[in-house]
Amino acid sequence: MAAASSTSASPGMLLLLAVVLLLASAGAASGSTLSSTFYDASCPNAYNIVRRVIQVARVSDPRIPASLIRLHFHDCFVQGCDASLLLDDDLPAIQSEKNVPGNENSARGFPVVDVIKAALEIACPGTVSCADILALAAEISVELAGGPRWTVLLGRRDGTPTNIEGANNLPSPFDPLDMLQEKFRNFNLNDTDLVALQGAHTFGRVQCQFTRENCTVGQPQGTLENLDQVTPNVFDNKYYGNLLYGRAQLQSDQVMLSDPAAAVTTAPIVHRFAGNQQYFFRNFAASMIKMGNISPLTGRAGEIRKNCRRINSKGY
Ligand code: HEM
Ligand SMILES: *[C@@H]1O[C@H](CO)[C@@H](O)[C@H](O)[C@H]1NC(C)=O
Ligand SMILES: *[C@@H]1O[C@H](CO)[C@@H](O)[C@H](O)[C@H]1NC(C)=O
Repeated sequence: MAAASSTSASPGMLLLLAVVLLLASAGAASGSTLSSTFYDASCPNAYNIVRRVIQVARVSDPRIPASLIRLHFHDCFVQGCDASLLLDDDLPAIQSEKNVPGNENSARGFPVVDVIKAALEIACPGTVSCADILALAAEISVELAGGPRWTVLLGRRDGTPTNIEGANNLPSPFDPLDMLQEKFRNFNLNDTDLVALQGAHTFGRVQCQFTRENCTVGQPQGTLENLDQVTPNVFDNKYYGNLLYGRAQLQSDQVMLSDPAAAVTTAPIVHRFAGNQQYFFRNFAASMIKMGNISPLTGRAGEIRKNCRRINSKGY
């Protein structure tokens, strides 16, 4: 930079530098440096590149949009949206979150993330973080399935450690309502967010071993069923209608209506979302932005991984 190599930086230049540094540190301290325009100059096609890969992937695998939004959730709920979920085992230094019960044989879509990352590394090397890829993929997936659009905030950086304890503490389909509420409140997500975000179970699949029926006799535990048996691949508010009929697949879905404490907490929200799709869409978008804001690494924290499965010092 000119100021660094010049022997006589002008007072005006120094003042400018001071202001820039001050603004940068203020942003980092408040943790609010995510911005919708983050890649406008450095990678203007980022959104379109992510979108194109998902569009192609969902032709052969209609489940992919559901699988991708779930990755963003499982990333953000474990030490923040830092793409820690995407790291593969590299023992002893890195123990992958992919092997915890909530993810193993369950979280999927990782090869699609690899294709997105490779395309972005060709277009704008070393620029778009894996954590931001998950945030973009979540929005695009919802939109392609017929759901709402929202403005994705960007500028997250990728973390280097994983967090197995956090991953083991992901919400479970067997958690009672108060436990689900607590796990969401830990990230500043309230009852409206809990009810709205579980609305993502409007698409995607579930293994029968996790359903309230727990498979039928002789059915292998991994047999896939639709989470929303009315419109399995569409992002709409039918999920809440299913709850009203007592037909949620997961106990952790149905408790938002059936728990004795639900009547004065989550149940009224379920009714409102069931009765008004636009209202649900607006709230879902707002809650996704809140979830995407969980403890991002910004500024010079973390790194921009070249390969989402490995930290950079490990090469790729
Ligand atoms: C409230 C706590 C939650 C619990 C207990 C929970 C639990 C589950 C379970 C057990 C499955 C099926 C996994 C399998 O059979 O392998 C699942 C799938 C799914 N979850 Fe959740 N979930 C929760 C919240 C969320 C949130 C917040 C989102 C996104 C915003 C989400 C999106 C999805 C999607 C889209 C699928 C289907 C994925 C696919 O087909 O690959 N879930 N969830
Ligand atoms: C949850 O938080 C949002 C703001 O993020 C607010 O609009 C909403 O009313 C809150 N809901 C409850 C049940 O507290
Ligand atoms: C589901 O059924 C299997 C086989 O009967 C059993 O081993 C398992 O514990 C059941 N799971 C739940 C959550 O009840």
